[in-house]
Amino acid sequence: MKIVMLGPPGSGKGTVSQMLAKEFGFPQYSAGELLRDEIKKETSVGIKIKEFVESGKLVPDQLVVEIMKLQVSESNNFIFDGFPRTEDQANSIEGLHIDMALYLEVPDEVVVERFAGRRMDQKTGKVYHVKYNPPPEGVEVITRKDDTPEVIKDRLKVYHAQTQPLIAYYKEKGILKTVDGAPPPDEVYEVVRGIVKEFQKK
Ligand code: AP5
Repeated sequence: MKIVMLGPPGSGKGTVSQMLAKEFGFPQYSAGELLRDEIKKETSVGIKIKEFVESGKLVPDQLVVEIMKLQVSESNNFIFDGFPRTEDQANSIEGLHIDMALYLEVPDEVVVERFAGRRMDQKTGKVYHVKYNPPPEGVEVITRKDDTPEVIKDRLKVYHAQTQPLIAYYKEKGILKTVDGAPPPDEVYEVVRGIVKEFQKK
């Protein structure tokens, strides 16, 4: 099953993808995580994209598409988290025949509150929240560089201008599933899980 996760920054794309990956065994590829990895390793791509990622702007399409396509060349099961984010990116993966676009609908005010508490395990990329999903004892966590209030504002602007149109794009293709992403993580996941199970029965 080939899934793309859509939703504003902080809507829970990473959280839900990790839960799906754990239960269903689908490999999960987070565009943000792969890009941050390139930055950490200071690869030539990493050096080019650092400023985009840390300021909340989108990395040029061609670079992201190349990285994401490399992950899945022949695979029939995967979750793309945070990709595609522009119509050009979506067009560039037409040939992969995506089965479902899962859109987590969350208002901007909720997202802003979530970011204040987000923490990340830099080693595994696992996402936590100080209140809703605290990291286990002994796990070393960091706050992401793009989780400052100013950058969050810009990321939301970028989302509304460039990524939100993909909701209509996938709706038109008849593969959009919209889920209310505002309730607690387990509740959101229960709904997502039901949708995926239903799809698998077909
Ligand atoms: P990326 O890392 O993808 O960031 P994002 O899309 O802004 O999404 P986030 O990871 O911030 O949030 P999320 O929706 O995964 O939510 P999470 O599960 O963490 O991208 C970073 C940057 O990379 C971009 O700005 C851009 O520069 C670049 N980039 C990435 N993809 C690109 C692309 N395709 N093209 C070009 N550039 C690209 O949850 C957030 C917090 O809330 C966590 O603390 C979590 O524990 C908590 N939480 C989750 N769900 C719930 C819930 N239901 N209730 C309460 N708390 C919850």
